[in-house]
Amino acid sequence: MADYVLQLKNINKYFGKNHVIKNVDLNFEKGHFITFLGPSGCGKTTLLRMIAGFYEPDEGEILLNGKNIEKVPPYDRNTAMVFQEYALFPHMNVFDNVSYGLRVKKKSKDEIEKRVKQALALMQLEGMEKRFPNQMSGGQQQRVAVARALVMNPEVLLLDEPLSNLDAKLRESVRVELRQIQQKMGLSTIYVTHDQSEALSMSDAIVVLKDGIVHQVGTPQEIYFEPKTAFVADFIGTTNLISLKGESGNQVAYGGTVFTSSNPVKEGSEYVASVRPESAGLSKNPVENQVNLKAHITNTMFLGEKVRYFLRDALDKEWIVDAFDPGRTIHQGDVYVTFPAEKAWVIAK
Ligand SMILES: Nc1ncnc2c1ncn2[C@@H]1O[C@H](COP(=O)(O)OP(=O)(O)O)[C@@H](O)[C@H]1O
Ligand SMILES: [Mg+2]
Repeated sequence: MADYVLQLKNINKYFGKNHVIKNVDLNFEKGHFITFLGPSGCGKTTLLRMIAGFYEPDEGEILLNGKNIEKVPPYDRNTAMVFQEYALFPHMNVFDNVSYGLRVKKKSKDEIEKRVKQALALMQLEGMEKRFPNQMSGGQQQRVAVARALVMNPEVLLLDEPLSNLDAKLRESVRVELRQIQQKMGLSTIYVTHDQSEALSMSDAIVVLKDGIVHQVGTPQEIYFEPKTAFVADFIGTTNLISLKGESGNQVAYGGTVFTSSNPVKEGSEYVASVRPESAGLSKNPVENQVNLKAHITNTMFLGEKVRYFLRDALDKEWIVDAFDPGRTIHQGDVYVTFPAEKAWVIAK
């Protein structure tokens, strides 16, 4: 059996009549960076707060290192949470904010100074020990909040959209650093975001949530290339979703165009397929051994490294096709959208 640091067993949570977490079953491997990804309101923060002990599940069990922690209050759980709204103590300076948990745990003065120094250095906050929260930018406060959690060296680090208030450049560098720190310390981490590129670039595994339901758990590659539901396909990256009908012999039909399905299908059942813009091409003439769909270019966007085409096919479906390194050939008018059949990832409707 894998070494699970944390397990959620059939968790359900209601706010009044609102059923916000539905039968969530998850296992977290020690030392992994796991991301909860989903649109606003899908239940990410609620899940994190239940793990930290700030909310109780209405049903189900949470196990930390195999032990049920239902009766364990937040401060004894050995989890550390960074809140979306940072929640720094306004009347304490940075040093006192970051050292708070260690002082509560009655660590020695020397140890506190050493660990706070390390945590501040990791978050690029050296020299800010004496500042108060209201003397810092939102991004700096957010980094103090992360330092305050890191300094506890928790069993599980819980981060709720911790980089949302950093400007784009700092966000990318802190992203890389956070991931390096996490890997170096072997820190089991749960990270919450609604930003799919953040999730893809940082995670060992991603949990995709919608309306309190886990749609998929997988590596970034699995989530991107083999989405289990149309929602996951659509939410992660840009894609073309087409409606298909199952035919005999594992074929699928898109209007009058029939091709071999990438996944098993039943005759007469309805499916959708996800075709990524980078997996399709454009051609003046049909291409042998590919799916060829007649289409008309409606718009063209030159983006430097690629040209993004917007098209409409014979079924009036819109397509996005990316042509990388296109040189100076810019297509116009009527063309074929072409792709190998196996690049259409077929899933149930
Ligand atoms: N304290 C609360 N009281 C009542 N409803 C809440 C509370 N917290 C969250 N909700 C509701 O639960 C759902 C999930 O919210 P949340 O976990 O904050 O989503 P996310 O973090 O993914 O944006 C939403 O419908 C939200 O309105
Ligand atoms: Mg939230």
